[in-house]
Amino acid sequence: MEEIHVGLVGFGTVGAGVAKLLLQNEKLISEKTGARLVLKKIADLDITTDRGVQLADGVLTTDVDQVLCDPQIAIVIELIGGYEPARTFVMRAIEHGKHVVTANKALLALHGDEIYAAAARRGVEVLFEAAVGGGIPVLSAIKGNLAGNNFQTVLGILNGTCNYILTRMTQEGADFGDVLKTAQELGYAEADPTFDIEGIDTAHKISLLVSLCFGTRVDFKSIYTEGISSVSALDINFARDFGYKIKLLAIGKRDNGRIEVRVHPTMIPVGHPIADVDGVFNSIRLTGDFVGAVMFIGRGAGMDPTASAVVGDVIEVSRSILAGAVRRSAPLGYLDDSVATLPI
Ligand code: HSE
Repeated sequence: MEEIHVGLVGFGTVGAGVAKLLLQNEKLISEKTGARLVLKKIADLDITTDRGVQLADGVLTTDVDQVLCDPQIAIVIELIGGYEPARTFVMRAIEHGKHVVTANKALLALHGDEIYAAAARRGVEVLFEAAVGGGIPVLSAIKGNLAGNNFQTVLGILNGTCNYILTRMTQEGADFGDVLKTAQELGYAEADPTFDIEGIDTAHKISLLVSLCFGTRVDFKSIYTEGISSVSALDINFARDFGYKIKLLAIGKRDNGRIEVRVHPTMIPVGHPIADVDGVFNSIRLTGDFVGAVMFIGRGAGMDPTASAVVGDVIEVSRSILAGAVRRSAPLGYLDDSVATLPI
């Protein structure tokens, strides 16, 4: 069976989940893909913490160029998150003819144009299903089976950390700070949880959804963004007394050629399908002119669901490679050994 070599940059919670999934379901993935996916190298600054994954000797490295510049590696998975050095690494991987799979919504919301343009020039793919909705395959659906629709609205709960906090505050009267700490321990929150609780992560995600649904780039900075840090127990109790739940909603609408995009806490009547989406779950509701309303629900954060989305993208690129639809690796003669080594 053919082999496709994969490199991973970032061996944190999701990176460990991806390695675990690729190893645990190796046989099944090979059968479904038609090739053996070999996780050849993993780069991270910290290669001593035990992530609970049994890796062969020599797989872990602190030298990111062993992933980005290895001529055998066809697909680079970027899971370090944030703007830099993720942007530099992704651009470097593309320059070296690698296909890129990433969960990095912050990076794509701000630097997507530059990255997609570089990928188009080099003839490589950039897939990012894991960037929105954790394990929910919503981007694949928008680009795939729903592609014939003219979308009018895309809205939903896009941050697992905030939904987990609001749910526990509502159901148990739990303290905001305590639940945030638990969300961090469970691997739901961003490295900087301000991105979660101030709605910035949700704004990153709705900007990607709106771009895909409406075919228009949205300036991330122009999105009205309000998080949940000022939602108090009193607000939650009042909402409950009146038959509502408070959820952090992202809303994108198209109307008469205008696009409206906003993120803010919203009172939703109990019994509405979105009000019942609790805990770390996310939900995205789309309306298209032919399909009507479609709603997706699933785990929006955490190691395993996010790994599921990342590996799904790796399988998709691998199938394209096997079908000859995209290149296996950089054209011969492009790679040279003179590139400087970048510290991760
Ligand atoms: N911090 C994010 C969340 C991770 O809580 O939803 C998944 O994108």
